[in-house]
Amino acid sequence: MPGQLRCFSHACRANFAITDVLYTCPRCGGLLEACYDFQALEPEALRRLWRDRRLSDDLLDRSGVWRYREMFPFLDDYAGVVSLREGNTPLLDAPAAAAYSGLDGLQFKHQGYNPSGSFKDNGMTAGMAQAVRLGRKMVACVSTGNTSASMAAYAAAAGLKAVIFIPHGNIAYGKLAQALEYGAVTLQVEANFDQILALVRELAEREGIYLLNSVNPFRIEGQKTIIIEMLEQRGWRPPDWIVLPGGNLGNASAFGKALRELKQVGLIGRLPRLAVIQAQGAAPFYDLFRSAERAAIRKVDDPKTLATAIRIGAPVSWPKALYEVQATGGLVETVTEQEIADAKAIIGRCGIGCEPASAATLAGMKKMTGAGRIRRDADVVAVLTGHLLKDPDYIYRYHTNQLLDPDGRPLEPTFGNRPVVVPNDPARIAAMLREG
Ligand code: F0G
Repeated sequence: MPGQLRCFSHACRANFAITDVLYTCPRCGGLLEACYDFQALEPEALRRLWRDRRLSDDLLDRSGVWRYREMFPFLDDYAGVVSLREGNTPLLDAPAAAAYSGLDGLQFKHQGYNPSGSFKDNGMTAGMAQAVRLGRKMVACVSTGNTSASMAAYAAAAGLKAVIFIPHGNIAYGKLAQALEYGAVTLQVEANFDQILALVRELAEREGIYLLNSVNPFRIEGQKTIIIEMLEQRGWRPPDWIVLPGGNLGNASAFGKALRELKQVGLIGRLPRLAVIQAQGAAPFYDLFRSAERAAIRKVDDPKTLATAIRIGAPVSWPKALYEVQATGGLVETVTEQEIADAKAIIGRCGIGCEPASAATLAGMKKMTGAGRIRRDADVVAVLTGHLLKDPDYIYRYHTNQLLDPDGRPLEPTFGNRPVVVPNDPARIAAMLREG
């Protein structure tokens, strides 16, 4: 049973075939989600099956996404799947980061260990499989960088043409470099993310291009496996909190859906709470969450943050994310540029490292523990969404006291680590090292 597409709007709930090329509901404009009948699934049998697959040499089984394919059975067969061995990301203890945020302990689920260096690969392998199944030859996305890097990689592997649209001058070099290297047609548009998304949706409709932004419901299906794999790694013990950065809010939507479905199947007995962290200069979801009626999002016209991955003023998936965060009794918080920069340096000092958007998680936890909203002894998993080397320019500037916030004000290199120029003289270098 390949499931169906259903309108997420609770007032509409229209159903469509899983093979209809739709990004939003044709009746009401609402978001769409894939729905399945999970009744035949048995938790114990699934646990055993997923564990056994780890010993298989089949790439489908070795993928940290497709290993869990029973939880997103939208395909008729798996012949068109392109896997780059995505997922399989570690869950890392980080005592120094825990201490920094005021927690007794903390684990990072590091999605930066993916083939293209971000969590987007979990969703992209699923979205690309749908593109192949539908016989599409061209795929497109608008991106703050990571989606485009990931889509370019998977399109290249699948033999599809990739067209990426990025805001001119506002994406990290590591990400742009990846898209170029993977051979994607790369269009830099003089507009921000939100404006470009509207443009791309029109083009996709007109030209029959398959759109692989996170509004695509199959991307969300793949991203659910971040949560499934994390819970499997924890022996199916849910944490108290799952903390993640929020931009377009696809990931928050995917995490909530995964948790609901895992509970429905009986793989977990209770829902962890979701905490979504936004950068202060790009925080429309935080504003919505704080508003009394939580009725409709008010977009931020000129979103600003050095964490360019989450520089989004009109997040597409907000209705889903709002529902999921509320369903888990979760929270939304904002953090400043300085808080992100310092938290990022601390994650680096754990020997782990991440890109700026990911560090919003640790900064957010520090703030929430400080305010007593997360207990010091809480069991917390923070999801690091992207690899350290995605944005090396930011790192160098921070450590050498050259990092300016989006308004041009200098940020403090609180945990800075400047490179030191020394003469070619062993005695003087030795003396310097002794002095510490
Ligand atoms: N962290 C990183 C590293 C990201 O690249 C993104 C989103 C997010 C967090 C936020 O996730 O959108 O699901 O709330 N990047 C998208 C992109 C927008 O185009 O690569 P979200």
